[in-house]
Amino acid sequence: MKYDFDRVINRKGTASLKWDGTKSIFGRDDILPLWVADMDFQVAKPITDAIKKRVEHGIFGYTTEWESLKEAVADRVKRKYDWEIKPEWIIFTPGVVSAVSTAVKAFTHTGDEVILQTPAYYPFYWAIQKNGCIVSDNPLKFENGRYKMDFENLASKFLPHDDIKHTPSRVKAAILCSPHNPTGRVWTKKELEKFGEIVSENGAIVISDEIHCEIVYDGHKHTPFASISKEFEQNSITCMSPSKTFNLAGLAASSIIIPNDSIRKKFLEATEDRIMGSVNVLGLVAMEAAYRYGDEWLNQMLTYLKGNLEFLKKYVKERIPQIKVVEPEGTYLVWMNFRALGMNKKELHDFLINKARVGLDDGYFFGKNGEGFERINIACPRSVLKEALMRIKKAINEK
Ligand SMILES: Cc1ncc(COP(=O)(O)O)c(C=O)c1O
Repeated sequence: MKYDFDRVINRKGTASLKWDGTKSIFGRDDILPLWVADMDFQVAKPITDAIKKRVEHGIFGYTTEWESLKEAVADRVKRKYDWEIKPEWIIFTPGVVSAVSTAVKAFTHTGDEVILQTPAYYPFYWAIQKNGCIVSDNPLKFENGRYKMDFENLASKFLPHDDIKHTPSRVKAAILCSPHNPTGRVWTKKELEKFGEIVSENGAIVISDEIHCEIVYDGHKHTPFASISKEFEQNSITCMSPSKTFNLAGLAASSIIIPNDSIRKKFLEATEDRIMGSVNVLGLVAMEAAYRYGDEWLNQMLTYLKGNLEFLKKYVKERIPQIKVVEPEGTYLVWMNFRALGMNKKELHDFLINKARVGLDDGYFFGKNGEGFERINIACPRSVLKEALMRIKKAINEK
């Protein structure tokens, strides 16, 4: 069937964080929100059909997982990335952020360090700090408009800290965001190999958040970190979910793939420590339907998204040349450089909300090196994206 991604669907009054939260988050009601990472598109019909069928049963008691669900995850990973995983490696959790935080808890003690490549999705900071750990920052290098990993600096994170009397490094884990939010990088196999070698040979575990893995633009390819080698497979936790790809964030279901038995056991113990609770049955039903029958929708959605990206780039280049788009290789989140406006972070925040009346994610949330940048979510009808860009353009012209 043909899906209509141009259709503007009113999400107000549906308890949408993006649309109903504007007053509490941005302080006013007339904000056009393009921040939090969900889409303004209706999901694939097979997903709604599967949910309806389950709802008709009418009983929603405690839920256990089922074989065909795990097979659907394993089949998809094999089909998309040629990575063979065993169903018993999969653990379902209510979200990727809670899984990342649980993984940090499982493999660290208070005062340990966890590597983060910044600018970085801000809940990663919480996952580290709220577990009593320290962010070991490995800032990405921004060269010729493209972000790159800094391998030399990464290796140095494992050396004794001279500044505090030769204290040995306490780096126990590294969070990898692949594809990377907010920069949109889809790490190459070569980059991942180098990253993995440095982290593994220093005895730290890789927590790989691959939630954006299915949203990749032409000319780029997602490689699951763990699929690169047996060594990486045995030293990593891979977090996947249909929530970004198929717009299911509100159904809170993700799959965490842990091939190593003892790592899996430790992770499970940590979920018990947190009394994490089971996953919503409708989320799991949606996951299976998305992975088995969602591709027709996904292919059309990706084509539409590419159109939005081209529209954004052209509009910004021709009409708002003060802003620079950092070309994304994946994700529907686009990182834009507003530094030429010469505003500090508070001024830029205030300008976008109170003058342009758009709700974006401010770059400084993602780390100090994100200051002066903004993240825009382009998974919306093109008319909404156009309206947001027109508001920004008008506000800049009137400045
Ligand atoms: C990199 C990344 N990880 C995790 C999440 C959220 O995952 P969940 O809603 O499953 O906790 C997001 C949402 O934007 C994200 O961008």
